[in-house]
Amino acid sequence: MTQSYRITLLPGDGIGPEIMAVAVDLLKVIGQQQDLNFEFQEALIGGAALDAMGEPLPAQTLDLCRGCDAVLLAAIGGYQWDGLPRPLRPETGLLGLRARLGLFANLRPAQILPQLLDASSLKPEVVEGVDLMVVRELTGGIYFGEPKGIFTTELGEQRGVNTMAYSAAEIDRIGRVAFETARKRGGKLCSVDKANVLEVSQLWRDRITLLATDYPDVELSHLYVDNAAMQLVRWPKQFDTIVTSNLFGDILSDIAAMLTGSIGMLPSASLGAEGPGLFEPVHGSAPDIAGKDQANPLAQVLSTAMMLRYGLHQSKAAEKLEAAVLAFLEAGYRTIDIQSPGTTVLGCRATGDHLIDILHQSQPSSR
Ligand code: IPM
Ligand code: MG
Repeated sequence: MTQSYRITLLPGDGIGPEIMAVAVDLLKVIGQQQDLNFEFQEALIGGAALDAMGEPLPAQTLDLCRGCDAVLLAAIGGYQWDGLPRPLRPETGLLGLRARLGLFANLRPAQILPQLLDASSLKPEVVEGVDLMVVRELTGGIYFGEPKGIFTTELGEQRGVNTMAYSAAEIDRIGRVAFETARKRGGKLCSVDKANVLEVSQLWRDRITLLATDYPDVELSHLYVDNAAMQLVRWPKQFDTIVTSNLFGDILSDIAAMLTGSIGMLPSASLGAEGPGLFEPVHGSAPDIAGKDQANPLAQVLSTAMMLRYGLHQSKAAEKLEAAVLAFLEAGYRTIDIQSPGTTVLGCRATGDHLIDILHQSQPSSR
């Protein structure tokens, strides 16, 4: 029997709609080939939602996301909304969606593809073979802690406040996801904190250390976040799985992304204890190239693969999509952000068309 899935599409802003179109075309082909039926429902988020409906996360969008099997998001944000009060900003829509869906675990893999060794700004011998996973806590920490705001003191001075706070339970649940993830990968987990200065990090370290007794097969280490940032660019191959808080994970995952040559290559999965997951590229909405057909849709395609694997448990379909991306690069095609001498540069749409051809070639009978 054909398995049916309802997918909520959130194209968002900037290059979002362009890269989402590629992902949807590919999903249709994968669906035919793997006997899967995808029912798509599209909704507004971020700046697009603000312009059309006056808020960055309309109730309708949230309802559609709650009632589906997986949410595929492209990107949000743009210069024109940067000056708005915080509740109206596109980012607030995304953070609200993560929080309201309870997506506390954010998986951000960074893998160097041999075809893209040249695209990295680091030496090939440093990045060759890098294969790591950042497990970022996504619904707590300084992003959500109270009190927060810009207050005026009795002396009339403005004061900006955010609060970095974690409960033991919040640390434990992301810790368990990280230990399980490390167990399925190389068996090594590095927990990143700032326990030499921050109390919240001391609790983080204590809880992760306690949890380790349940996972004797996983080798646990700890690093301070400043050292971790340095080690990531010094010798990234020492890492297998990294677990860290919301803010540190935001920063470290950008560094990890750049090891691979372009942030345009990195997918992510955000998962909760139950309900649909959210799958989105690590990169932003790149307003400077929006509408120019220059965007790299590969992170969106790889996020779609993560959706198939982690959200819908269709690992065969996920592998097909990932293999198509590899074959595309192997054939010497690149988007502008990852180009190198001797490669053929394609736009966003042509990249999608080539990927579709590759999928068809891998299964000639489906033509
Ligand atoms: C990310 C982004 C977001 C974050 C922004 C857009 C709110 O940088 O997904 O890494 O800070 O989490
Ligand atoms: Mg970020």
